[in-house]
Amino acid sequence: MNRIGVLTSGGDAPGMNAAIRAVVRAGIAKGLEVIGIERGYHGLLNGNVRPMTAGSVSGIIQLGGTMIRTARSEEFKTAEGQARAAEVIKREGIEGLAVIGGDGSFRGALAINRACGVHVAGIPATIDNDIPGTQYSIGFDTAINTALDAIDKIRDTSASHDRVFVVEVMGRHNGFIALEVGIAGGAEAVLVPECRCDMIGLCQRIQAGQARGKMSSIIIVAEGASRGSDVAATITQITGIETRLSILGHIQRGGTPSARDRALATRFGYRAVELLMEGETNFMVGIEKNQIIHSPIERVTEGRRDLDSSLLDIVEVMAT
Ligand code: ADP
Ligand code: F6P
Repeated sequence: MNRIGVLTSGGDAPGMNAAIRAVVRAGIAKGLEVIGIERGYHGLLNGNVRPMTAGSVSGIIQLGGTMIRTARSEEFKTAEGQARAAEVIKREGIEGLAVIGGDGSFRGALAINRACGVHVAGIPATIDNDIPGTQYSIGFDTAINTALDAIDKIRDTSASHDRVFVVEVMGRHNGFIALEVGIAGGAEAVLVPECRCDMIGLCQRIQAGQARGKMSSIIIVAEGASRGSDVAATITQITGIETRLSILGHIQRGGTPSARDRALATRFGYRAVELLMEGETNFMVGIEKNQIIHSPIERVTEGRRDLDSSLLDIVEVMAT
């Protein structure tokens, strides 16, 4: 293998830059040429490519976002789009492709492998941490720390005013962020898409807390579980307690990546290049018990990562 490409795709995540840097520098150190592809599959099918040097990725390990940009491309999902992307891959002599993104991006990686045989490596990066085949994906650690910082501040004002605060965090399809920050932030309750929420029981717990002298509460809601505004309105309606809503939104996707995310991204990128050079394809790197592993991308795109819902019991006990 002489030449590999790297792209970032789908929703961005803090630490993507560290992964790009790792792919570029590991590739160059092993004698490869590395091509940066701008704006994910959109850039690939439009031929937006540029050679990367070790210097081109200097000073980015500490930056959020992605220096080669990201995108979602409907055109790439079509046979014509994939044929155009395959032509670019052939024209540029790209033999291996590192795709940094989530499960949708990995479906795209499989599609381009089928279209032209290029060897593909998946590097999991999404703040949602919902990718099977890895305990952690790039960006999750930073996102939960960003959310936690905001929740700590909300707690100050919530306590001053004896208010209930509903804090809506990201997680379209799952509650990994919500559960982690709920435990770490000492929330009174966590609502996740994976479990039905008993609003009456929740309100009774808030009222019981008040009776014990606990005058403020933080309720974490994953965006996929319910609209935060509906949860806040229901709490006010049932308990009569003044309730405010704070939607953390895209601040969770930005910012300086944590040490953990930078190190994870670097280990993932390095290993992905090693495996490509060994002739592997259609795999995703992951981490399990602090060891870098890899698994077939098909298993990743067809499976799902389950939330350990027993952790919700811990939240409830800690809130007593
Ligand atoms: P993520 O990688 O964060 O899950 P998306 O689901 O938005 O993000 O996917 C990113 C991009 O990957 C899509 O815009 C599309 O170009 C490509 N993609 C997703 N699913 C497929 C698919 N089934 N076939 C081909 N390409 C896909
Ligand atoms: O990166 C995953 C995610 O943060 C989801 O939790 C969220 O619903 C989604 O991305 C929003 O992404 P966008 O605004 O880019 O469509």
